[in-house]
Amino acid sequence: MDTRLIDVHDDEVCARAYDVIIASKDHQRPWHQPPSLAETLVEWRHVDEAERMEMWGAWDGDELIGVATIWLPMSDNTSMAWHDVQVDPAHRRRGAGSALLDRIVARAREESRPTLVTDLMVPADADDHAYRRFAEKHGYHLSNTEIMRHLSLPVAEDLLGTYADRARARWEGDYRLETHVGGVPPELQPSLCAVMNQLAVDAPTGDIDFEEESLTPERYEEYLELFRQQGRVRLTTVAVHEATGDVVAYTDLMLPSGAPSVAWQWGTLVHKAHRGRRLGMAVKVENLRRLQTDHPERQRVVTGNDDTNSWMVSINEDLGFRIVELCPAYQRKL
Ligand SMILES: CC(C)(COP(=O)(O)OP(=O)(O)OC[C@H]1O[C@@H](n2cnc3c(N)ncnc32)[C@H](O)[C@@H]1OP(=O)(O)O)[C@@H](O)C(=O)NCCC(=O)NCCS
Repeated sequence: MDTRLIDVHDDEVCARAYDVIIASKDHQRPWHQPPSLAETLVEWRHVDEAERMEMWGAWDGDELIGVATIWLPMSDNTSMAWHDVQVDPAHRRRGAGSALLDRIVARAREESRPTLVTDLMVPADADDHAYRRFAEKHGYHLSNTEIMRHLSLPVAEDLLGTYADRARARWEGDYRLETHVGGVPPELQPSLCAVMNQLAVDAPTGDIDFEEESLTPERYEEYLELFRQQGRVRLTTVAVHEATGDVVAYTDLMLPSGAPSVAWQWGTLVHKAHRGRRLGMAVKVENLRRLQTDHPERQRVVTGNDDTNSWMVSINEDLGFRIVELCPAYQRKL
């Protein structure tokens, strides 16, 4: 099994790499709705100074049968390397996954990254699933488990109205809610970035030791441009503290262009000093309402929450999210 770096500017190799990754991610997951090749290529070809990315292929003769991706954060969490290994289901159990993982471990050593983190998608009732066995065989241990839930749309307006009203009674007067399409305006970006940077340290992540992130307004704008090029729509609802004009809570939905029936729930966070006012529920309901009004083609929201994050999980369960699968994170210390 030969492993070689994938040239992200080679259209033919990229198309095959995309097919391998999607065949692997689709395997036994009929609900999976992947982004298109076009939007994926934009991401692969975008050079992110804050996070270097490399893709490695496993070739059996001249056939590409597996792809590993490694991400190296450059401005925070610099002792870490996250990665993903996907092998075409028709070519599994022949050593491609192991060859790719060996390559990733070698690259992490070369880059002086002692902490390797990866996550898997497995059924909720399979503790000894093949993907877990693969990770454990290679010296990884289970560090954290996110539960993946889906919400069928539309959610009844009277349910949303009830939760919105109950929340409003707790925050009204001190905050205002704003929903923005394609990113928040420049005056809100510094405080939004500060709140977003708390997510990795505030949300429970098991025994993975994340540092605070270092998103800046410049990089936030760069990502907005990337999403525009991908044809993606980002819906962001923020709570602004009237006294200071700062964003103190946010939630983000991302609408992929190539998977027109789904919306991905990205981060939601309420700043520590402003918790207990139902701002989390308030921003989520407001964002969902905008999603339903402006994008009736979206039939499902996909989200993942740490199984110990009872606060976020209870909001999601109230809104009607239901468990579909698990996303355990595995870690290896070199
Ligand atoms: C996990 C995955 C990468 C393995 O790829 P692969 O090419 O089949 O892996 P290998 O052939 O190198 O298998 C190595 C070892 O993993 C374990 N393993 C892999 N598949 C297994 C299965 N179906 N049942 C039990 N053990 C399995 C075995 O210990 C195997 O060694 P063995 O064949 O000598 O018994 C592949 O199934 C996949 O793409 N899964 C989806 C994505 C994923 O979960 N990636 C893991 C990220 S770390």
